[in-house]
Amino acid sequence: MSDAPFDAFRFAHEHWDEIAWLSQNTNHLGPSRIVQEALAEAVRARHYEGYPFAPGAPELRDLVLKDLGFPADAGLQISAGGTEALYMLIRALLAPGDEVVASDPSYLIIHRFIELAGARTRNLEIYAPPFRLTAERVREAISPKTRMILLIDPLNPLGSGYPAEEVRAIAEIAHDHHLLLLNDVTYRDFADRPTLAATFAPEETLTVWSVSKNCGLAGLRLGGLAGRPELVARVAKFNTNDLGVNVLAQAAAVAALRSKPTWIDGLRQQVRANQERIREVVAGVPGASLPVFPSQANMFCIDLGGTGTRPEAVQREMLLTDRVFVRAGNYLSPRFGGRFVRVSFSNPPEDIERFARSFPRAVELLRSAAPAPRPA
Ligand SMILES: Cc1ncc(COP(=O)(O)O)c(C=O)c1O
Repeated sequence: MSDAPFDAFRFAHEHWDEIAWLSQNTNHLGPSRIVQEALAEAVRARHYEGYPFAPGAPELRDLVLKDLGFPADAGLQISAGGTEALYMLIRALLAPGDEVVASDPSYLIIHRFIELAGARTRNLEIYAPPFRLTAERVREAISPKTRMILLIDPLNPLGSGYPAEEVRAIAEIAHDHHLLLLNDVTYRDFADRPTLAATFAPEETLTVWSVSKNCGLAGLRLGGLAGRPELVARVAKFNTNDLGVNVLAQAAAVAALRSKPTWIDGLRQQVRANQERIREVVAGVPGASLPVFPSQANMFCIDLGGTGTRPEAVQREMLLTDRVFVRAGNYLSPRFGGRFVRVSFSNPPEDIERFARSFPRAVELLRSAAPAPRPA
């Protein structure tokens, strides 16, 4: 196989229907029928012809705040995915020279936004137990330039979640040092006992939420941020979606959130069963291992360190031959990305069975093709 540049996303989108999408933590077990009916109704009523109510549909705002357990008068900004909220808040609240305490691995798009603001991240390496930040290390990393702590919980890509006591301790650090606390809770609904940082540091915390992963609406692009009204108002000045967020996305999100109690438990059970199945498969592949199990999210990393294979090669082989799309780690970690692939598992069991056939096959193929290690 040649090493010519290969655009995995282009290939996957060209073969959309054939792909087992385990690459972007998307959710293919969401309340599809409910969403489809809501979308059909909004289309039938031609809601797309007018602009949405700019602050977001009132029912959507209520549902989001209730879902987070926030008071009805909390600040809330609706945006085109959590991504837009992340960009806005970083643009609004960070200045050149500021530092943000963050991690490696991490969801690096946030780091890129931070750099665009002229600020920098101080990345604590977490590819070792407990595979997440600790309050102690966060405290040590604080400098006079520190302005923000990035707390992604559960964490993409490792799947680690934060115990309530650790969230509390990190929130107290933010409070004591007058730092902003960016609590990205995109994967919260997959966790056993999620704890919002805002519970402990309501003044300092901005909570970024999304319906992409929990509700299975990634393609509709809807999310936002919530927090103290004055802080959210400062961020909202940088809102580019002044005319409001896609009406169809709002209709779908309302339907999904309204009905959440009827489907969330079933979703979580299937996600747990899927990750159990992946664990079995990985255990049968010499040299591969799971740094974090069980995951508190809908994804985790598979460490390939002992297999003699490269994540990019495994990604490509699985995608091209079996149409199973997992993601090489390099986009999630400058330091450790060469060691793992990330696989998400909020998918029908058939997709997981395709993974179960593809992953061992790809690793064996690439392992036998790899040059023998040189003697030490
Ligand atoms: C940690 C984290 N935050 C935010 C997002 C953005 O999600 P969206 O823009 O789809 O809401 C993602 C997407 O993968 C993510 O992993």
